[in-house]
Amino acid sequence: MAEDDGSVEQEPVEEVRLQKVLARVGFGSRRKCDDLIAAGRVTVNGEVAVLGRRVDPESAVVAVDGAPIGVRPGLVYYLLNKPTGVVTTADDPQGRPIVVDLVPDEPRVFPVGRLDADTEGLLLLTNDGELAHRLTHPSYGVEKEYVAEVEGEPSRAALRSLREGVELEDGLTAEARASLMDASVVKLTIHEGRNRQVRRMCEAVGHPVVRLVRTRVGLIADRSLGPGEWRELSIDELRSLEQAVADKPGR
Ligand code: URA
Repeated sequence: MAEDDGSVEQEPVEEVRLQKVLARVGFGSRRKCDDLIAAGRVTVNGEVAVLGRRVDPESAVVAVDGAPIGVRPGLVYYLLNKPTGVVTTADDPQGRPIVVDLVPDEPRVFPVGRLDADTEGLLLLTNDGELAHRLTHPSYGVEKEYVAEVEGEPSRAALRSLREGVELEDGLTAEARASLMDASVVKLTIHEGRNRQVRRMCEAVGHPVVRLVRTRVGLIADRSLGPGEWRELSIDELRSLEQAVADKPGR
């Protein structure tokens, strides 16, 4: 509204206590949130916050341990258990079944990274381009766990190779974790995301993959989600992903 002196009256900004903002998005009781603030783990617009700090929840960038909190309006985050035969894309000119057909149409989302058509398991879909970009960026190295049923029975030496690095045509793979769940079932945890990496690693040590399932992305796992089923990420799961890709020095 125009004032007598010609200036425009600003809507007063309603500031809220920081501990209340943190409590609202699931950081526990206000007391616990005060403890986080007192420990210097909370920043507002990049500056370490002090107890009693008030913020404009609409505009302040609040982070805990470097990870921005909260969900911006309009952003959605789905966890899908991708069945085999479904292509990881948002659009397939060949008309094959695609992952986005398994989740709600609106708002439009896209897959984070990719699983081969013949791979099953956990896939994130979102319309949060920034988070998706970070999650797939090699420098953040978010862990992915796979269970691979393979031909033959991998020896200790084969498992050691998987752990220490396998020479592939696009270079040596990074250190990984590998263990046997059964004679022909390998659990492999990698933090790279090269094309068909697990299949190529297993093949390179003499054990081609028969069936491949992704069982974890970062800290997110869910054995109760059947093939083709999806659910929204919980606040804690989302926060764990944001934490995994929070700005780190040198990145
Ligand atoms: N590694 C593979 O070989 N395939 C996938 O779909 C994912 C990881």
